[in-house]
Amino acid sequence: MRIGVDYYPEHWEKKRWKTDMDMMHQAGIGVVRIGEFDWSLYESKEDVYHFEWMDEILDFLHTNNMTVVFGTPSATPPKWMTDKYGDAIYQADINGNSKIFGTRKHYCFNSDVYREKVRKLTEKIAERYAGHPAIEGWQIDNELGWADTVRCYCDKCEKKFREFLKDKYGTIDKLNETYGTVFWSQTYNSFDEVIIPRAGACYDCCHDTQGQNPSLLLDYDRFCSESVISFMNEQVDIIRKHSDRPITTNMLDAAVNSGTGIDYFKMSKTLDFVTWDNYIEFQWGKAKDETVSRDHALLRSYKHQPFWVMEQQSGPCGWSKMGPTPTPGKLRLWTYQAVANGSDTVVYFRWRACPFGTEEYWHGILGHDGRPNRRFEEISKVGEEMKRLSQTYGPLQPKAKAAILKSFDSEWSHEIHKHVEGFHYDSLLLDYYRAFYRMGIPVEFAAPEEDLTAYSLVLAPALLMVNKEQKENLENYAKNGGNLLISFRSGVKTMENTFLTETIPGDFGKMAGIEIHDFDPLLEKETKVSGVFGTGTAKLWCDIISPVTAKEAGRYIEDFYMDKPCMTVNAYGNGRVYYLGCDLDEKAMENLMKYLCSQSDIPVGSYAIEGVECVPATDGANEALFLMNHNAHSVIVPVEKEYTEMITGEKVKGTVSLGAYDVAVLK
Ligand code: GLA
Ligand code: ZN
Repeated sequence: MRIGVDYYPEHWEKKRWKTDMDMMHQAGIGVVRIGEFDWSLYESKEDVYHFEWMDEILDFLHTNNMTVVFGTPSATPPKWMTDKYGDAIYQADINGNSKIFGTRKHYCFNSDVYREKVRKLTEKIAERYAGHPAIEGWQIDNELGWADTVRCYCDKCEKKFREFLKDKYGTIDKLNETYGTVFWSQTYNSFDEVIIPRAGACYDCCHDTQGQNPSLLLDYDRFCSESVISFMNEQVDIIRKHSDRPITTNMLDAAVNSGTGIDYFKMSKTLDFVTWDNYIEFQWGKAKDETVSRDHALLRSYKHQPFWVMEQQSGPCGWSKMGPTPTPGKLRLWTYQAVANGSDTVVYFRWRACPFGTEEYWHGILGHDGRPNRRFEEISKVGEEMKRLSQTYGPLQPKAKAAILKSFDSEWSHEIHKHVEGFHYDSLLLDYYRAFYRMGIPVEFAAPEEDLTAYSLVLAPALLMVNKEQKENLENYAKNGGNLLISFRSGVKTMENTFLTETIPGDFGKMAGIEIHDFDPLLEKETKVSGVFGTGTAKLWCDIISPVTAKEAGRYIEDFYMDKPCMTVNAYGNGRVYYLGCDLDEKAMENLMKYLCSQSDIPVGSYAIEGVECVPATDGANEALFLMNHNAHSVIVPVEKEYTEMITGEKVKGTVSLGAYDVAVLK
């Protein structure tokens, strides 16, 4: 476990660099990420290249015992390029209007010209620097995954989208039939007629949805995701030709309102490790500790291996306004939260606040003046502690016996048409995660087609659609003795985003041993339920379940469906399939997960204290129990065994006291 910083030596005078190195070493920082926005320094005019400046930086960093994650600069096409090529490079927004030069990420992933330019520069960079001893890894582009930069509506994309559809459907008749274009007279005569789903005539009046054909919209979402992945993979392939160092990119948290727009499970396949950018309290709001924990869990799950935080907040930040300064203890706490949840390297953004540019407010460890400060002291303490912990531990991973299924196809479909007011796939998954979080039981995320045999409990909330492989995977998991919970709005749609005509829950009816003939999307009302989870409240959705072979595990206790089942359990092969027909409030959800854990041989710990995150982790040989106090007040946490606290080396018995934002690592 170690710490690093995002470093921009090109923003500063060279005479300062040595001071930076000395201070970084003093803080225990041994790795820096550099270079991810520097295109105009490499290529000041078309085909006029300069590398001496980067040679100097790399040599300097190496001489000063820093290793480097080298960013490729494709997030920032320079001015001469957009001037010369214009719309051949620019993205377009949902109305088809070109984006303009001035910030970043204004390029289209399907621009042939831009891709050619990116390949050329990446090749030069990789050729030149692959053998440089400072380089320990590569980062492709920067933050691939803002939904509004992933989804482009330009003519270039429209052309490629038609090719994508032709490959997928073969004939236009097949597309028409699949999409149901007979609805509203949308039948296409050829692929050349198919639209990219720009804002249609109903766009402004139908709010929450674009109004376009839902099958078209889902295919378009997939197309955009594939476009970014193929854009990234071109760079991966080029770098691999020259370098044996691991390659990554810095991803985003689970959902910035409308999700990342990229299937990160798929994207992770060609990467050697994954990383993400973790901003917790800034101009745009404050993330809850459980949400951050969930994001770490997602990142860990994309490859089920240790990940990095490539940008960890280290100061007050924002663009036009600043968020709060991290209260003393929080930088340390946030670092431990990452490590406990499976990150082995935490890189702080950024080393020093930049006095110019869009991010003049974005404070790093150091302020504009570059002098040691409170945050520097705190990070230095963390750096020292990480060194100490690394003497005992290798990279740690939480020991998860339960998994929540996450499907990007389902997520996108849920975003296209949301089923009911207030419903978000991502927040439903968080409801499940939160229950485990509160009980101090690690839980992993998994894609529906993954091998699930390692888990004794698998949860499939609102898994709207599954393909044959995924369906069989879940069936086999349950048949072979697994415990599977499926929730409302699962298995009811085709992969093409049309409704199945089988009785709900469609693909899962047989496994769940139920039929659903009636349901109630809740609007401005709540419904009380009771069952193995105690009593609770549904606020979004109520499936009124008719058991076929299943047994009741919970029922509605009011409304016209009073006494009808809201939850069932069905014996399936050697396993059990639970069906939960409604959402549940926090307490009932926690009770339900406790119940399911007890049915699945997952021990329920006794550390659950409000605001204290408890993560049992292992490096394969050594165990670590992380206790992290997210409260602004001190707490006393009871512990079952005798432990050594690995930061202080003190023996612990009975209880552990933690100050505000304090942490303990018990062995
Ligand atoms: C993102 C980017 C960084 C920087 C920070 C702060 O995470 O990756 O380059 O812009 O935000 O805004
Ligand atoms: Zn485009």
